[in-house]
Amino acid sequence: MNLNKKMKESYVEMTEVVLPNDTNPLGTIFGGKVAQWVDIAGTISAIRHCRMTVVTASMGQLDFLSPVKVGQILILRSRVIYVGNTSMEVQVNIFSEDPLSGNVQKTGTAYLTYVALDSAGNKVRVPRLISETEEEQNLLELGKKMALERKR
Ligand SMILES: CC(C)(COP(=O)(O)OP(=O)(O)OC[C@H]1O[C@@H](n2cnc3c(N)ncnc32)[C@H](O)[C@@H]1OP(=O)(O)O)[C@@H](O)C(=O)NCCC(=O)NCCS
Repeated sequence: MNLNKKMKESYVEMTEVVLPNDTNPLGTIFGGKVAQWVDIAGTISAIRHCRMTVVTASMGQLDFLSPVKVGQILILRSRVIYVGNTSMEVQVNIFSEDPLSGNVQKTGTAYLTYVALDSAGNKVRVPRLISETEEEQNLLELGKKMALERKR
């Protein structure tokens, strides 16, 4: 197995449209629906990093900065920002895009932890994470801080 993976290899961009069934009576999206999409994007990032089965160990933090209305486009961008032994910290940034104006606005950020398992359900060590830019190095340090705080 390759023991090193670049941060950009786990990058995921997922695009959804907010349908009436995804919204509350005010016509804005349910937080739970966003959480589901966040977990899907985060899971794919974790799988792309380790190429193994992963489970969600924790949805640590999910902040909603502004409401997203029915008919708007939701964009989720995720990547692995830190790895432990068997765990991976994933950051998911959430944006809304107005379909008519094309205006894109950041609407939230989420942090999740995934653990890699083999086919028997045993935890497996994941590849080390390589940062290539200053932005990625800053993310790696943020992810490390979050993982340490969580463990504490
Ligand atoms: C996640 C799970 C595999 C961890 O197993 P465990 O035997 O408790 O794990 P350990 O204490 O040995 O920790 C293994 C790793 O997971 C991390 N971890 C464990 N519990 C965690 C939690 N609640 N949040 C974040 N990370 C966690 C540990 O920090 C450790 O990381 P490291 O190997 O990088 O150092 C296990 O709790 C599980 O299967 N949970 C259910 C997962 C699931 O079904 N998710 C779907 C959503 S319901």
